[in-house]
Amino acid sequence: MKKYPIVIGIESSCDDTAISLIKKRNILSNVIINQKIHREYGGVVPELASRLHDKNLPIVFNKAIKYANINIYQIDAVSVTMGPGLIGSLLVGSSFAKSLSIGLNIPLIGINHIKAHVLTHFIKYSNINESYPKFPFLCLVISGGHTLIIQVNDFFCMKILGTTLDDSIGNTFDKVARIFGFQYPGGPIIEKFSKNGNCNNIFNLPTPLVENLNFSFSGIKSYIYQLVKKELKKDSFFLQNNIHDLCASIQQKLTEILLEKVEKAIIKTKIYRVALSGGVSANKKIRNMFINFANKNNWEIFIPKIEFSTDNGAMIAISGVLKYEHKLFDNIDITPYPKLVKELNTSA
Ligand code: KG4
Ligand code: ZN
Repeated sequence: MKKYPIVIGIESSCDDTAISLIKKRNILSNVIINQKIHREYGGVVPELASRLHDKNLPIVFNKAIKYANINIYQIDAVSVTMGPGLIGSLLVGSSFAKSLSIGLNIPLIGINHIKAHVLTHFIKYSNINESYPKFPFLCLVISGGHTLIIQVNDFFCMKILGTTLDDSIGNTFDKVARIFGFQYPGGPIIEKFSKNGNCNNIFNLPTPLVENLNFSFSGIKSYIYQLVKKELKKDSFFLQNNIHDLCASIQQKLTEILLEKVEKAIIKTKIYRVALSGGVSANKKIRNMFINFANKNNWEIFIPKIEFSTDNGAMIAISGVLKYEHKLFDNIDITPYPKLVKELNTSA
């Protein structure tokens, strides 16, 4: 066992083909190809995603090796997302990883994508001293597929405290954006249009009434759909004339819902350290509202760089490094899983 292994991380669970090489906690390279083809379909088309991962993985791999300035025989272990995600896409990535593991005779390490979003907080970005969250901390994972409040007790022991009962927050951003006629993914477009908008809930968006630490977003999405339909009947320019205010209102409402639940989780657990992860945490309004709220209430807040909020290879590689250090290797016959079926409080 090497003290400072070089671990490769392969991510292909959705529409990003990403590979990173990490030594110790430092990134040697981090390469990503985002599949733009899905924009015109309003969402990710699974068959197209798998085919593009198959095409792009060797390209991303060669670039990652070149930028890291190593040869492939210096890689000590291969880590790969095994789930949750699109099964075809996961199979392409895991088969690629298995080939590397066999060809280079190095350990294979299966990674849970959600845990990897959490562990993204342990990547070292630069030589400047950085602080990592101390255990235990709360992690709000907000992505295209999930909305989770997780209590992180250590690198491998995590407990879900709250989840969504219907749509995820990323999916809500994307579906509302679709109602407005925007392309996929709609989250960043809603953020862009929000900039000059009034966020004072002039459209009376409802607050979902969900007990405990769970979320529900389908009511807001339906409300927006009905509102736009009704207003367009009266005024065919309703969307053009109100798009900034609509985007700002929805962004504000979704952020408030997240904040309220995280505050509840803090009160319940008495853990005053909060980390944000997942694609939706790239949103600057969400980042800023959490930073302000944390400062006001004396919690510690951890927010990754934007490229490590959205899907990336480095979060898989850092998870691989941590598992390597604990000798948590997998057999070559592991298979991908599409849903969040694996318990988070195991080392799997
Ligand atoms: O974590 P991620 O990259 O992939 C999944 O694991 O799902 O998250 C993708 C989601 C999409 O729903 C996308 O619209 C959303 O993250 N997203 C954003 C922003 N950037 C990405 N949502 C709101 N504001 C953003 N700036
Ligand atoms: Zn993700």
